[in-house]
Amino acid sequence: MVVTGAGVSAESGIPTFRDPLEGLWAKYDPRELATPEAFARDPETVTRWYDWRRQKCAGAKPNPAHLALAWLGKHFQEQNRCFTLLTQNVDRLHQAAGSRNVVELHGTLWIWRCTRCGIEHEEREVPFKEYPLRCACGGARRPAVVWFGELLPDDAIQNAHDALESCDLFFSIGTSAVVEPAASFLHTARRRGAKTAEINREPTPVSRMADWSLQGSAGEILPGLVQRVFGI
Ligand code: APR
Repeated sequence: MVVTGAGVSAESGIPTFRDPLEGLWAKYDPRELATPEAFARDPETVTRWYDWRRQKCAGAKPNPAHLALAWLGKHFQEQNRCFTLLTQNVDRLHQAAGSRNVVELHGTLWIWRCTRCGIEHEEREVPFKEYPLRCACGGARRPAVVWFGELLPDDAIQNAHDALESCDLFFSIGTSAVVEPAASFLHTARRRGAKTAEINREPTPVSRMADWSLQGSAGEILPGLVQRVFGI
């Protein structure tokens, strides 16, 4: 079982959230941009900001960390063994790298949902032609991401719990491990007897708990690790 965060997409040029200088939350106030209240207050500004992030993601390519995880998933699948990749990222770079059945804990930037009728559509064209996007019913459309104060998608939570029940090896990669519920997954996996590993450029609140804490860039560590440990 693997859980990834913004650090895995950093080497693809996507800013993380909590980097003290370059992180999104160092430059923008999440209360003004990543809450349902902010969207209700100012849907145009929120939509422009998410469209800016979409343009960054549209121009980004999967990096060696994404590719290594796609190989690993394929390897496990070929051996009929369980492999679950959960991500907090909304950029779909795992899928662009070839990963399948990715569990998107926080939704995605590429699907937009009407706040009136609830209908969802994939939106790949960048940039948008209107702010905010309007549904045929007249409702304003929002990104199908999980904002602060919102619940995660039921199926994503169920997939996470099912994987935690049975995983033997748990990886936490490129996440600061401060946002729940993902922040508790390593602890839960460990409590259930799994071996746990973390890959991060810096120590996190779970580093001491992990059986292996590998400090460095995911794009540098993962390809070699996957090759040496799994022979891929
Ligand atoms: N390789 C490995 N780790 C990295 C790299 C890299 N190349 N670059 C940065 N990191 C690490 C940072 O040290 C940090 O611990 O990735 C982590 C990124 O942390 P955050 O910016 O907090 O991102 P994340 O953990 O994914 O945030 C969780 O918070 O804001 C919400 O919904 C948003 O999904 C997001 C959630």
